[in-house]
Amino acid sequence: MAAKLRGATVVVTGASSGIGRETARAFAAKGANVVVAARRAEPLREVAAECEGLGVGALAVPTDVTDAAAVEELARRATARFGRIDVWVNNAAVGLFARFEEAPLDDYRRVIETNLFGYVYGARAVLPIFRRQGSGVLVNVASMLGRTSGPYVSAYVASKHAIQGLGMSLRQELALDKAKDIHVCTVMPATIDTPFFGHAANYTGRAVKAMPPVYPVERVAERIVRLAKRPRREVFVGNSGRLLQLQFFLAPGLAEKQAAAMVDKLHLAQDQAAPATSGNLFAPTPEGTTAGGGWKSGGSSLPRAAGVGLAAALPAVLLWRRLRTGPVASNPGGNGTAKAATKPSVTTRIPARRAAVVVPERPGRRPQWLVLARPSRRAAKT
Ligand SMILES: NC(=O)c1ccc[n+]([C@@H]2O[C@H](COP(=O)([O-])OP(=O)(O)OC[C@H]3O[C@@H](n4cnc5c(N)ncnc54)[C@H](OP(=O)(O)O)[C@@H]3O)[C@@H](O)[C@H]2O)c1
Repeated sequence: MAAKLRGATVVVTGASSGIGRETARAFAAKGANVVVAARRAEPLREVAAECEGLGVGALAVPTDVTDAAAVEELARRATARFGRIDVWVNNAAVGLFARFEEAPLDDYRRVIETNLFGYVYGARAVLPIFRRQGSGVLVNVASMLGRTSGPYVSAYVASKHAIQGLGMSLRQELALDKAKDIHVCTVMPATIDTPFFGHAANYTGRAVKAMPPVYPVERVAERIVRLAKRPRREVFVGNSGRLLQLQFFLAPGLAEKQAAAMVDKLHLAQDQAAPATSGNLFAPTPEGTTAGGGWKSGGSSLPRAAGVGLAAALPAVLLWRRLRTGPVASNPGGNGTAKAATKPSVTTRIPARRAAVVVPERPGRRPQWLVLARPSRRAAKT
């Protein structure tokens, strides 16, 4: 669409706090009418009033996104009031911190029902409207954990990986239908300063903290607004997410171990116990209705971000050195540790001197490494 935002209609789920709340306000500031949805009616009314104060139309529709009929009704009320829907932001989600085997199954299921099925219901409700209109932008707020992973959050990670795949598949169907003006965008924020961590279910016995570096909530809202004007397939918000995914791509085994240690150390308090709670999974909590979560952003985050950067760069540097000094060993284990190969690997250049793919010796195996760097002459000759 590349939406003209003034006068457009934007639906935002999960708008009673955090990213959704800030996103609704950001769209209203650009002149878009907003329809805000979540379970908590009072904060929704506040957001709607705030948006109306910016001179646009606003409608609050209390909605539980795990209820497909309620999500259909949300879409119906939005079109009844404003005549069309130009942008739909699937954003409502919940978190669950627990070791996999200790997570209550009902809580686990609820995370998937909210974070994945909530988005599925949203997409099912709005795509037919986009098709009738011939245009529209669906924004799915996933997470950097949709590309990476962490311990204690397997349900959340599974839901966010699923959203990533859902977005890809929807784009492919739209491409086959030549629906050029209907877009599906996936947003992958790093850690964002919102009330999310206070809302989450927690069975770890340790208090949950926002894992640094923490980025301001406005960053995500601004990115989502820009996507409505210039849709993109997938975007990160926050460099730590970009770097982490690079690390997972270059050295997955090492990255998994490092991320596990990082989450264990920085996401869960070392010295602060916490009682078991299902948080806002089944019913909303009265606390945490603001956009920001009161987590410290900036300041100390820089050295940590640099640490993440170094960790991400390390495997690339190792591989570069290998390329310069001779043939790169294949990595049959795929665990991020280059092992000596029994036979020399084949090094292919695509295109000349731009990139190198190391092809494993066994036919049928996927290439293990893709190096986006210029190989040395010596490596290219082998
Ligand atoms: N904060 C981060 O670090 C971070 C990082 C990456 C991705 N994200 C993603 O960003 C999105 C927004 O999260 P946030 O950080 O802004 O957290 P948040 O403040 O807790 O916002 C979550 C929103 O979802 C709503 N919600 C939860 N369950 C719902 C249900 N069953 N039906 C309808 N609404 C429901 C909540 O409102 P009610 O309780 O009133 O229903 C709330 O408005 C989520 O998709 C999250 O996964 C966050």
